[in-house]
Amino acid sequence: MKILGIESSCDETAAAVVEDGRVVLSNVIASQVEEHKIYGGVVPEIASRRHTEAICGVVEKALSDAGCTLKDIDAIAVTYAPGLIGALLVGVNYAKGLSLSTGIPLVPVHHLRGHIAANYISDKDVKPPFLSLVVSGGHSHIINVKSYTEFEVVGRTRDDAAGEAMDKAARTVGLPYPGGVNLDKISVNGDENKYKFPKPKVADSPYDFSFSGLKTFAVNLVHNASQKGEVVKAEDLGASFIKAVTDLLCSHTMLAARDVGSKEIVLAGGVSANSRLRRVMLEECNKEGIKLYMPELKYCGDNAAMIASQGYYEFLAGKRADMSLNAVASKAIDK
Ligand code: KG4
Ligand code: ZN
Repeated sequence: MKILGIESSCDETAAAVVEDGRVVLSNVIASQVEEHKIYGGVVPEIASRRHTEAICGVVEKALSDAGCTLKDIDAIAVTYAPGLIGALLVGVNYAKGLSLSTGIPLVPVHHLRGHIAANYISDKDVKPPFLSLVVSGGHSHIINVKSYTEFEVVGRTRDDAAGEAMDKAARTVGLPYPGGVNLDKISVNGDENKYKFPKPKVADSPYDFSFSGLKTFAVNLVHNASQKGEVVKAEDLGASFIKAVTDLLCSHTMLAARDVGSKEIVLAGGVSANSRLRRVMLEECNKEGIKLYMPELKYCGDNAAMIASQGYYEFLAGKRADMSLNAVASKAIDK
C-alpha cells in the first residue's frame, strides 16, 4: 500500500511516498531555513507564503521520484496538528483538494505521532509498545506508545521545549538559527563541566521537565561575564548547556522506563539528532538492558516520510478525514 505524505507544519514543505509504512520510495523537502535565518527564527507569515509557492512542485517531485502517479496512491496522509496555523493550512487544503479531485482517501496525521513513526522507517524491527522521548522545537514529551495509534503522555515540559531551549542558548552565544544544530556542532569541542547548571525539578511529577531556568542561567552567565570584562567561550557554555538539558532528558526517560516497565525506548523529534543525547541515552540503555531506537539523522527533523509512515497505520486503524478537516495549532498527541 502506497501512502503520499504531506507536511507543512513549520518551515519545511515536504512530500514523500512510503510503501506499507516502512519503505521510503521518495522523500522531498523544500527547506526555508535560509530565509528565516536573517530574522533569527521562523516568521509564520513568510512560512505560509513559501509553502504555498512550493507545495505543488514538492508533491509532483515526490510522485515522480517514487516512479508513480496519483493512480498508484492508496491514501493521502497530511499533518493537520500541531504547528503554525497558517503553515498547516497550506498542506491541509492542498491535501483536501487532491483528495476531492481524485477520490483518494484522506488521513489526518498528528505531527508528533509522525516524529515517532520516523523510527518505523529507520528500523524495521521497531513495533509498539515502547516508551518514546519526543523532543522537538515545540514539544518535549515522554510518551507511552501502547500501539501504533494509542498514546499516553507520561511526562512533558512545563515551560520551554528542549529544542526551543537549545535555540535560545545558541542565540545567547551568538550562533545563527537553527540554533540547536549549530550549538551541537561547536559544543563537540567544548568543556561540558566548565559551567554547573542547576537541575530543575518539577515538584509534583518526576517525569516532567522545566527548561526555562536553564536558559535564564545561560543568559545571566554571559551578562555577568561581560560586565566583568570576561569572555565566555561559546564552546564551553554550549557543551555545559547541552549536558544540562540532555542529562535531564535522559534521567527522566530512564526513570519513566523503569516505572512503566518498558524494555524499549524510542527517540524522536529534531532534538533526537543531538549527538550527546544519542550517546548518553545509548550508554544508559546499555547499562539497564534496554533496547534503544533512534531515527537516522535525515529523519529526525521535519519530513513527510514520517507522516506517510504514521498515515499508513492510521489508515489501517480506520482513520479518515472528510472535507471538513481543519488545521489545529495545538492538539495533544493522545486525543
Ligand atoms: O522536530 P523539529 O525538526 O521541528 C519541530 O517539530 O519543532 O525540531 C526542531 C528543533 C529545533 O529547536 C532545533 O534547534 C532542534 O530541533 N535541533 C537540535 C539538533 N538538530 C535540531 N537540537 C540539538 N542538537 C541538534 N543536533
Ligand atoms: Zn517536528
